[in-house]
Amino acid sequence: MDHFEELDGEAVNPSDETPLEALISRRTMLKGMAATGAFGLFGCATGAQAPAAASGDGSAPLGFTEIPRSDDDKHHVAAGYTAQVLLRQGDPIKPGAPEYNPTGQTGADQERQFGTDADFISFMPLPLGSNSSTRGLLGVNHENHRAQICFPGVTSKSQLSQQQVEVQIAAQGFSITEIAKEGNQWRVVKDSRYNRRISGNAPMRLSGPAAGHPRMRTSADPTGTRSLGTLNNCAGGTTPWGTMLTAEENIQNYFTGNAGAGPEAAARKRHNITGKGRYADWARYQDRWNLDKEPNEPNRFGWIVEIDPYDPNHTSVKRTALGRCAHECATHAVSHDGRVAIYSGDDARMEYVYKFVTEGRFDPKNREANRDLLDRGTLYVARFEANGKMRWLPLVHGQGPLTAANGFASQADVVIEARRAGDLLGATPMDRPEDVQAHPLTGRVYVVLTYNEQRRPEQVNPANPRANNRFGHIVEIVPPLVGGKPDHTATECDWGFFLLGGNPADAAHGARYGGPVSANGWVAAPDNVAFDPKGRIWISTDGQDDMAGFNDSLYGACVSGPQRGVTRAFFNGPRGCEICGPEFTPDGRTLFLSIQHPGDGSSFDKPSTRWPDFRPDLPPRGSVVAITKNDGGEIGS
Ligand code: FEO
Ligand code: CA
Ligand code: CA
Repeated sequence: MDHFEELDGEAVNPSDETPLEALISRRTMLKGMAATGAFGLFGCATGAQAPAAASGDGSAPLGFTEIPRSDDDKHHVAAGYTAQVLLRQGDPIKPGAPEYNPTGQTGADQERQFGTDADFISFMPLPLGSNSSTRGLLGVNHENHRAQICFPGVTSKSQLSQQQVEVQIAAQGFSITEIAKEGNQWRVVKDSRYNRRISGNAPMRLSGPAAGHPRMRTSADPTGTRSLGTLNNCAGGTTPWGTMLTAEENIQNYFTGNAGAGPEAAARKRHNITGKGRYADWARYQDRWNLDKEPNEPNRFGWIVEIDPYDPNHTSVKRTALGRCAHECATHAVSHDGRVAIYSGDDARMEYVYKFVTEGRFDPKNREANRDLLDRGTLYVARFEANGKMRWLPLVHGQGPLTAANGFASQADVVIEARRAGDLLGATPMDRPEDVQAHPLTGRVYVVLTYNEQRRPEQVNPANPRANNRFGHIVEIVPPLVGGKPDHTATECDWGFFLLGGNPADAAHGARYGGPVSANGWVAAPDNVAFDPKGRIWISTDGQDDMAGFNDSLYGACVSGPQRGVTRAFFNGPRGCEICGPEFTPDGRTLFLSIQHPGDGSSFDKPSTRWPDFRPDLPPRGSVVAITKNDGGEIGS
C-alpha cells in the first residue's frame, strides 16, 4: 500500500487490509503537497511576526551526517557542529547572585539563579521589533525540581527541610535572560535589566472567564484574581505581539490532603489530583498546598500564562479562556483574517488536543491593542474522524451538553473543567498530546503524540491506531485555505499521519515514515518540535531510553518534497535526560536545546552522569545548549 498517497476521496475497504492498515488508510496518510503541485496554493506565510519565522516549504534536503545511537554520559552532535553549554541550573542571572552551591543553596539564592529542568525555549530578538540573531531574550521553562539529584543525601523516603522546599518552589517556573553572540559564541548578559525569574512565588494576575469565580478564591486571595507562582512549566509558545506563553502541565503533583472531600472532589479526580503528589512536603511548610486548608488552590494552576519579556515590571497573566488541563504547549498561528489560534495538547494518556481562537484580530501596528486578545474567544477540542476529516468542537457554556444540568453553571466551570467538557462533547482520546504546532508557511498543524503504552487493542481509534503505542506518532491537520491563506479558525479540517514512530525494520512496531530511515534515524517518544527558516521540522524526544533503549535525541526532517517525513539523527543527549525546547534564531544559525534532567533516575551521591561540568563536587545539571555550525552556516544546511 502506498501509505503516503495524497487524499483522493476514494473509499478504502477495510476488509482488504490488516486492522492497522485499515486505520492508517490511504485517506489519512498525507503526502507532501509540493510533490503534487498544490503547494503554491498556500501563498504567503501566516505568521511573519514569529521570531524565527520560517519562510521555506521544508523540502530542502538536510546536509549533515547522521550520528549513531548513544547511551553514555555525554552529549553528541553531528560532525561540523558545536554545542556550547550556555545556561546551567543554578547559574547566577542577576547582579550579585551567588554561584551555584548545591550544599547550601537557599530559596533566595535560587530566585536569582537559572532554574532547574529547563524545557521550553523562546528566543526573542533585541531590540523589540528587530530581527536580530545575535542579541535577544531567552525565555526558558523550568518544569520540575528533582530532590534526589539536586540535594546531597536525599532518598525517595527523605523528608525535605523548609529550606529545601523553598529552593524547590524557587527553582521552577520561568526565566528570562539576555544573551548575546560574538563570533560563534553566545554569552549571558549578566547585568541586563531584563533578566528575571518568574518562579513558584511570582505574583500572577488571573484573567478571562474563571477570574474572580468563587472556585478560584482562597484565604490569601478572596477576590480570585491574584495568585502566586507558575509551576510544572513544560512547553509553551509565543504570541505574534512578542509575548511568551508558558504551559502549566502536571499540576496534580503539588497538592496534599484528602482530595476526595468537599465540592471539588469530582473535578480533582478528573485532573488526577489525588492528594499524594511528588512534592508532598510542600504542604508541611505552606498551607496553600494543603487541600484540606485551601481546597481551591489547585484551580489556580493548569493554565496558560502570558509573560512579557520586554517589560521587566510586567505582571504575568493566567489566561483562563484557554482552558485548564495538563497543558503541554500554547503555540500560535495567525489566521487568514487576523484572528489568532493558540494550539495546545493536554499531555496525559487518553487526553485531548485543544485550540483557542481569539474573537479580536491581531494588530501588527499596535502592540498594546493586542494586550488582552487572549481573554475573549472560543476554546475548541479536537475530534478525529475515520474519513480523514477532523472537527473542532466548541467548549462554550450553554451549547450542547455544557449546561447547568451537567454541572456547568457558567463558562468559568467549562474552562476550569475543560477535560470533562471535552468528554461530554466526544473528543478523541489521544496518545499523550505534546507539542501542537502550525508550520509557518503551509499552516499544517503537527500534533505530536509521544507514546501510550497503556492503550489497549479495543481502545484504538483513527488518530491513535496502535495499541501499546511505545513509539509515538505525529498527526498532521490541514486547515482549509481562504484566499490562499490557512484558515486556523475553521471547525472542519483534513488530517493524516506525518509519521508513526518506531523501527521500520521491525514489522511489530508498525512504524511508517515518508521513505527509508536509517538504523540511527528512526524516532521514539517524540515530544517538542520546531521549524527552521527553511521550513524543515526538528523533533526532540523524551523517553527513548525507556521505550527504545538509547538516549534521547533530536532529529531533523523535511515536511515536503522527496525527503518528507524521513527523520535523521542530529543530536543525542547524555544519559537520563530528555531533549526539549528546540528553538532557532531568525537566521537559522543557532539552535537552542534544553537538556532536561540529565542523570534522572540516579542520585546526587551516585549520579549516572555529571554532565555538563563533570566535576566531582557537582551533580548533573539541566542546561540550555546553543548549537552552531563551525563554519558559521545555517543549522542543517
Ligand atoms: Fe512535560 Fe509533556 O512533557
Ligand atoms: Ca514535553
Ligand atoms: Ca514529555
